[in-house]
Amino acid sequence: MQKIDYQLLKYFIGPEAENISFFQDLINKSIEHHKNYRKNAFPKSEIEFYKETADTYMNEDGEKFNKIFNEFLQRLEVSTRNFHPRYFAQMTKDASIPALVGMFAASMINFNNHAYEGGPATTEMEMEVVELLKNLVGFKEGWGHLTSGGSLANLEALWAVRDYRVNGKILFSKGSHYSWKRNCSILRMDNFEEIDIDNHYRIDLDKLEDSLRKNKVMLVMANLGATGCGAVDDIESIIKLRDKYDFHLHIDAAYGGFSRSLIIDNENKIDHNSTPEGLSQHTFKQLIALEEADSITIDPHKHGLVPYGGGSVLYKDEELRNIILHTSPYTYHKIDKPNIGTFALEGSRPGAIAAACWLTYKLIPLNKNGIGKVIAESIKTARSFNDRIEKSGKYKMLTSPDLDIVCFYKYQQDDDLKELNRKNMEIYLKYSIENPKSDFVFSKLNISEDILNKFIPQNKINDKEFITLRAVLFKHWMLMGDDKNYLDMVFDLLQNI
Ligand SMILES: Cc1ncc(COP(=O)(O)O)c(C=O)c1O
Repeated sequence: MQKIDYQLLKYFIGPEAENISFFQDLINKSIEHHKNYRKNAFPKSEIEFYKETADTYMNEDGEKFNKIFNEFLQRLEVSTRNFHPRYFAQMTKDASIPALVGMFAASMINFNNHAYEGGPATTEMEMEVVELLKNLVGFKEGWGHLTSGGSLANLEALWAVRDYRVNGKILFSKGSHYSWKRNCSILRMDNFEEIDIDNHYRIDLDKLEDSLRKNKVMLVMANLGATGCGAVDDIESIIKLRDKYDFHLHIDAAYGGFSRSLIIDNENKIDHNSTPEGLSQHTFKQLIALEEADSITIDPHKHGLVPYGGGSVLYKDEELRNIILHTSPYTYHKIDKPNIGTFALEGSRPGAIAAACWLTYKLIPLNKNGIGKVIAESIKTARSFNDRIEKSGKYKMLTSPDLDIVCFYKYQQDDDLKELNRKNMEIYLKYSIENPKSDFVFSKLNISEDILNKFIPQNKINDKEFITLRAVLFKHWMLMGDDKNYLDMVFDLLQNI
């Protein structure tokens, strides 16, 4: 196995706060810089606002402040401890040091990226970040912007396509993120159909084509990393269907899109003959095909190393932004600069998240020698997890991982569904948020009645859902360590329960 690049560790606080003093230095530097910036921002005022500063106030009232502040800090400890490699329940990445510092420094100025005047510096940064994201997904033209998250990015894309294409159905798989159904409901687009999945949890292409044959379709949404188990739809084949049936292809790569950094080199080229270690041939091909999409959701706050508040939507055809153009009489006055909010669903948005992305991607480029190295660790971890489960004799994988989410279950020969659910629920209750003291934190994927026959033989189905254990292997530290690593520890645990 390829040696882990320890260089990348410098960008993270570390599971046990190993790098905290580096982080502290950068925060102090940004405070010092902010102090000078604020002092000189306008001509010095004659008015004496502060006869006494907080220091004096703290002397008088320090006890109350400290009490509440301590209570606040303690309340933060009531958390899932999701920064740690022992936590793999959900898609919470440990934010990088540049992202945290960038966000903090920009928050002190409180930029608002809805309009250029609200955030000149961070609007410019956002536009540069969007260029980096477009480059990552392979869009040579088009437009995009950051959003507060993936659901909002999906909603905006759906809104723009609805108003552009006007008529037709919306198709997406039963394995898609719940925002798709919700967004159809918000936009009153009842004309959607959830297409069945296959036994890889990917959209069933035959059923998709059946629907395309029968209906006029406005938009097909394909997943590059579906939320449940990270399934990657066969985008290559869906592109061929688009040639035949003409629809808008949106790819929800909210979670999986950053994995394309694994295949891009410093010169921005892709070597079509070299599949990155741990990645399946299937996923490799779909990552390449991503550039053929008409629009894409891709979330920096998932695999992109920044804190929450950072999704994004990218469009290949700029016409889609004009279709949702709305302006206002009291802002958006600066016409020679981008006013992102005129072409977006959301109004006020934190410029700080653009700053976080900018600083992060300048230091950790969106290619195989930057963020790709971080994501490669997750992909290798998932592959190794899969191989160990297959050898375990006690557990089975639900599907082979397309990216770095694994779903698996404990089983014994002849177990029926009720028995499988009993066994796996027992593990879940001990090793999940249900047990706040748990040393390891898994989540679960409940597979609904309408699709569980893809995974369980008909004669064993005697329950309404199938409960599988789920691990989102987002942390890049899982395989590190000379004698023992975190994944070994996970498997020691699994073998003993
Ligand atoms: C594939 C996919 N799309 C969309 C979303 C929604 O993103 P957000 O939670 O940022 O709104 C998620 C979230 O997990 C997701 O996995």
